[in-house]
Amino acid sequence: MPNSKHNDLEKIIIAAVAKNGVIGAKGKLPWKSSEEMEFFKNTTTGFPVIMGRKTFQSLSKPLENRTNIVISKSLKTSNINGALVFGSLNSALSYCEKKRFPKVFIIGGEQIFAEAMEIADKMLISEMKGEFEGDTFFPPVDKNKWVKKFIRGYSDFDLYEYIPTED
Ligand SMILES: NC(=O)c1ccc[n+]([C@@H]2O[C@H](COP(=O)([O-])OP(=O)(O)OC[C@H]3O[C@@H](n4cnc5c(N)ncnc54)[C@H](OP(=O)(O)O)[C@@H]3O)[C@@H](O)[C@H]2O)c1
Repeated sequence: MPNSKHNDLEKIIIAAVAKNGVIGAKGKLPWKSSEEMEFFKNTTTGFPVIMGRKTFQSLSKPLENRTNIVISKSLKTSNINGALVFGSLNSALSYCEKKRFPKVFIIGGEQIFAEAMEIADKMLISEMKGEFEGDTFFPPVDKNKWVKKFIRGYSDFDLYEYIPTED
């Protein structure tokens, strides 16, 4: 199992990924899919969401009905525009555990996904049906560490769940 810390907190990566691995373009999502946005909203509502500073800045406002947590080294504040700020992923996870949240969603972008993949308990990946131009990518998934399972198909994407292999 990749995860050994924060055992009382389920840590879930949630991402939408194009067929060519792209997740972002010029600070935004490369596609418009209300269906995928609705899936994301329904899945994450009520739980904390952890994101990188650039992803937070790409939102017009904090995500509603979720504790918004931003990871940043440059922001020298503990609050920004309705979000909590932490200096590391680890300190953000410790906060969620202290608050006794049962689970937390790690929502990107590329830099945060890469770090979180080492400690996540699960990944929910929407595989968008198409290739897109972009500048940020989902990190490579080590097939020796993760088992991929099809969950269901939507019009714009197929939903997969990844669970760590037992080792
Ligand atoms: N398709 C999807 O599912 C999805 C999801 C989310 C985002 N996106 C897209 O991804 C793009 C943004 O991703 P990105 O990789 O460029 O940026 P990001 O991961 O959102 O943010 C990067 C910033 O987070 C902070 N950070 C990263 N690692 C850190 C660490 N270990 N400790 C402390 N702070 C850390 C740093 O902030 P400071 O510079 O302030 O120190 C860093 O500059 C956008 O295009 C967005 O739309 C796509």
